[in-house]
Amino acid sequence: MTAMTVNERPVDFDMDPDTPLLHALRDAANLTGTKYGCGAGDCGACMVLVDGEALRSCLVTIGEAEGRFITTIEGLSRDRSHPVQQALVAEQAIQCGFCTPGIAIAAAGLLRGNPDPSEAQIRDAIPNLCRCGVYPRLVRAVQRAGRVMRRRETISAAPAPGIDPADAARAVPGMRVEDASPDDLGSD
Ligand code: FES
Ligand code: FES
Repeated sequence: MTAMTVNERPVDFDMDPDTPLLHALRDAANLTGTKYGCGAGDCGACMVLVDGEALRSCLVTIGEAEGRFITTIEGLSRDRSHPVQQALVAEQAIQCGFCTPGIAIAAAGLLRGNPDPSEAQIRDAIPNLCRCGVYPRLVRAVQRAGRVMRRRETISAAPAPGIDPADAARAVPGMRVEDASPDDLGSD
């Protein structure tokens, strides 16, 4: 058993200690907000906070994470109220969204130690790849989140999704889903 704290809850993983933390989180803990992009440390989609530091979870084994405090995107806030989440939405720094959890975690890690980062510091601390190219908006969003954390600005909380996932699937013409529950549709 490999014990750690994930999103403020104690967790024991009954897995090989060499298992990448990314796979333990996604496949055993069902925390699929953390994305599997490259699996090789290049993209940043898998970033989680480990004792407050943003790390690529594909490069960290659960053995190395033993006894540490892990925060995934699901634990950053329960209601999307973290300033980074609010600012990413407000600045429309999200397109397809695949990179967004990793970026939000990297930004949260940066702002935790430096709530007033320069553009250069943001680009250095958030090297995450975004195939949609949100980079200019991302800098604005992180600086805006910093202003919120310094109490220079407030952002209205991002609205909750206005549509049930099952209803969203029904609205896609090429995809028929009859009487499916949200669980049937998967979460990633
Ligand atoms: Fe970990 Fe790409 S999946 S850096
Ligand atoms: Fe699509 Fe970044 S928003 S990969």
